[in-house]
Amino acid sequence: MAKKVQSHVDPFYYHYPAGATIVTSHAGGCDNAMAVAWHSAVSREPPLYVISISPERFTHGMLLESGEFTVNFMPADQAELVALVGGSSGSDVDKFDAFSIDAEPGSQVAAPILATAFAGYECRVVGRHTYGDHDLFIGAIMAVQWEESAYTDGRWLDVERLSPIVYLGKDLYGGATPPALIDGDELVRETLGGG
Ligand SMILES: Cc1cc2nc3c(=O)[nH]c(=O)nc-3n(C[C@H](O)[C@H](O)[C@H](O)COP(=O)(O)O)c2cc1C
Repeated sequence: MAKKVQSHVDPFYYHYPAGATIVTSHAGGCDNAMAVAWHSAVSREPPLYVISISPERFTHGMLLESGEFTVNFMPADQAELVALVGGSSGSDVDKFDAFSIDAEPGSQVAAPILATAFAGYECRVVGRHTYGDHDLFIGAIMAVQWEESAYTDGRWLDVERLSPIVYLGKDLYGGATPPALIDGDELVRETLGGG
């Protein structure tokens, strides 16, 4: 495939699609929520999860103050909520009130888990690292909350019934297409064996 080559990454959209999450925080007696597409698992043991947050976000100060956050994994039908919390700041508006967000405090952290999330990680900040214009907050996962009916075998998201949000950048949201089950070990064996 012939590719266009350029020495800049503007617009910074080439790494999408990504799963869009809602990160919540709680500090000074208030809850806040923001959209986060830059996030990742870091370590299985101990379980660590990272979010990349600009110091310009109101959430940033709340994370510094509380040392806690939750990451909420959202179904595609919640894309408008992601756009709402990603398009407004907790410095101007109480998003939980304004957008009627249904949530409960975490079991291990004060930051809330959203009722409409199919799963959520409750995290305690164990590290912060500045890279360029964002800070990485490393969270130790203290607890997981997950909707049993959204999973098959208690493990795999039932994408026949529920599609996670897929964020394509530039305000474009979608869902997962029907999945293909690929046994990587078997495929490698067959491919190398046949070659
Ligand atoms: C889909 C989507 C994903 C986003 N991902 C991030 C992100 O990973 N990191 C970040 O700092 N801001 C991200 N933003 C921007 C924040 O969500 C946005 O600035 C929000 O208003 C911050 O809220 P706050 O000021 O209440 O913390 C994203 C916005 C959208 C719509």
